[in-house]
Amino acid sequence: MTTKLFSEVDKYISDLLAPEDEALRSVIKSLDDEGLPQYSVSANQGKFLQVMMMACGARRVLELGTLGGYSTIWLGRALPADGSVITIEVDEHHAAVAQRNIDRAGLSQKVSIRVGRAMDILKSMIAEEVVPFDLIFIDADKPPYTEYFEAALGLSRPGTIIICDNVIREGKVLDEHSTDERVMGVQRFNRMLAGNTKVTATILTTIGGKEYDGMAIAVVNPTGS
Ligand code: SAH
Ligand code: DHB
Ligand code: MG
Repeated sequence: MTTKLFSEVDKYISDLLAPEDEALRSVIKSLDDEGLPQYSVSANQGKFLQVMMMACGARRVLELGTLGGYSTIWLGRALPADGSVITIEVDEHHAAVAQRNIDRAGLSQKVSIRVGRAMDILKSMIAEEVVPFDLIFIDADKPPYTEYFEAALGLSRPGTIIICDNVIREGKVLDEHSTDERVMGVQRFNRMLAGNTKVTATILTTIGGKEYDGMAIAVVNPTGS
């Protein structure tokens, strides 16, 4: 249900506040050239991730679902000099395309791609007791979003921001009889989020050049609250 007006307003905002440079434009082109899906966040959503990073002074960022590295580049560019992004991608071809794009953007020192299943890598980072992340962006496969979020909490501290993409799915979340496993995954996730007392959360709907959708934004509460 993307209308012309919503696309034009999205472009109006991105022309003002989130213009793409050559590195970002070439990621979008690389997806078509390499046969990857156009599932990247929009430019305005990339800028939104940067605003969230600046709001919490993010130095350590974790992303689930790299694709061609479009969101990763927005995240990487909002890091301080000593900051880093770890981005997890299961598909080796996607990871290879993303690595080239990240290199082209000059971010190879700050961004590391971990190739593997997100849940396996999350579990091993929890077992290793890695330093908590400041911001976590969940954007991989939708059926295990609930489990990804629970694992993300295990890699968080009070104040960590967790953002989850695609939790409205063109309003298909309203259909209680949906048999789409992606829709069912985010319906289950949204119900869990509503009852989760460890975080303060909301969902922002996103209308623009991409499909009508939404992002969940959660902040980890102080302990004992
Ligand atoms: N964050 C990207 C878009 C990610 S699209 C951007 O906005 O630019 C979702 C990605 O998640 C795809 O590349 C897909 O291969 C990856 N993915 C799917 N299942 C996964 C899993 N189990 N573990 C890690 N990545 C997964
Ligand atoms: C899909 C995944 C995404 O991360 C996205 O932003 C849009 C669509 C999908 O799997 O359909
Ligand atoms: Mg997404």
